Amino acid sequence: MALSIQAQMDEFFYRELVKYLKLAEEKRRWNVFKDIHWAEANPDTSETLAHCVETFCAVEMYLPDFTASLLRMIRRSRGRAWFHVNWGYEESKHSLALESWLLASGHRTEEQRDAFEKELLEAEWELPFDHPRQMVCYTMIQELATFWNYRNLEKMATQQQDWALVGALRLISVDERVHYNFYRNSVKEWMKHDDAGTVEDLKYVFDNFSMPGRSQIPRYDESARILAKTGIYGPREYIKLVKNPILEDLGLDKDFHLMEAAQARYAAQRAARQEAMKREQIALGNGHAVPKNGSPLNGKPGEGAAQNSATQNGNAQNGNTQNGASNGTMHAAATFNSHSLNSALANTGKNGDGENLPPTPRRAPLLEAIGIEPKQRTPSPSIILASDAANEPLPGSRGMAKLDDLDQSLIVAGDEISNNAKEMREERAKIRRNRMKNDRLRRQKPDGGTSES
Ligand SMILES: [Fe+2]
Ligand SMILES: [Fe+2]
Repeated sequence: MALSIQAQMDEFFYRELVKYLKLAEEKRRWNVFKDIHWAEANPDTSETLAHCVETFCAVEMYLPDFTASLLRMIRRSRGRAWFHVNWGYEESKHSLALESWLLASGHRTEEQRDAFEKELLEAEWELPFDHPRQMVCYTMIQELATFWNYRNLEKMATQQQDWALVGALRLISVDERVHYNFYRNSVKEWMKHDDAGTVEDLKYVFDNFSMPGRSQIPRYDESARILAKTGIYGPREYIKLVKNPILEDLGLDKDFHLMEAAQARYAAQRAARQEAMKREQIALGNGHAVPKNGSPLNGKPGEGAAQNSATQNGNAQNGNTQNGASNGTMHAAATFNSHSLNSALANTGKNGDGENLPPTPRRAPLLEAIGIEPKQRTPSPSIILASDAANEPLPGSRGMAKLDDLDQSLIVAGDEISNNAKEMREERAKIRRNRMKNDRLRRQKPDGGTSES
């Protein structure tokens, strides 16, 4: 049984997530407190620049709504859900950086920031589309638009010589570009499975597209007019920098018709996928194809192949006999005595004696990203059984295991990098003082001397 498109897409998202996280951790993480030269925020920059920064900051402020509502929709897709949470973390830094600039440059006070935040969060943003694939299309468009928002804003910040804002916007726009690429790849992957359906969703989303926060952000229309007038982002930029490049990239004309070359490309990719699956099939002597363990064609890895064959074609041995009778016994015998029989049997999950072989393990994207092979281990029954545990004497005081040196140092290490480090230090000192006092009391004899004396 072949995997459904949804299941194949879930696999795709998981693999992409692992690659994405590896690259993010290795090459893209940045620190809002250290990596931007806040001291270079320029107080002489224009109010227009500050207004544009504030508008984009406002869009980023709906993060709780962007993450919560979509997360519920995609929670069963490991790749998408984990990506989404990580995406939320990255987006959270965008609003922090923009707010920091508004404050550092002196354009806004903390009171103004606070009032703006409260006003914004009055309204809630709701998902504009109710299908996961439409939401991927929507986010793809929105991420590319956001990338250009920040790139063009950076040009204005450069003109006004604000190097703190330039630095921040550069980091943010790289994030937005990477977000766009993730969604763009996902849309393209969907096109390989179902180009017509994906194009239909994409068209629907484009026809109904508006930037997030449009109906929530107070005085949005005025802000949009300012953005358009400055040339940072308006209807012209939307068509030129967002819509047209996306259509071109996906091989669509302006009426959302797949261009011939693109149509042929998607058809070829679909055919290649099916061909790859067929090539996984091993033909047994009876002429029946058996998919490999773990193949999407094989519903139950490790046991399904032979059974599938038997179910579809009647008893496999009978099949051989019939096949042998019709095609010549010599042919069947030669096939079954050859190396190909062994490999065919290996792929049915049985050895030559018909015993079950362990299923071929699938390669783990996580280990592939780390760059190691899993260790080989022999299974052992070395688990602590409940009955054994019951006979063990209670360790430490009050049933708690005693803290060893590593426990202690990890507790200290964690405390020292916590918000309440000072309080935790005092608490540890108090425990130490109490312990010393208790030890002294325990050593004391009833007459007042110590047990050692
Ligand atoms: Fe962002
Ligand atoms: Fe983004």
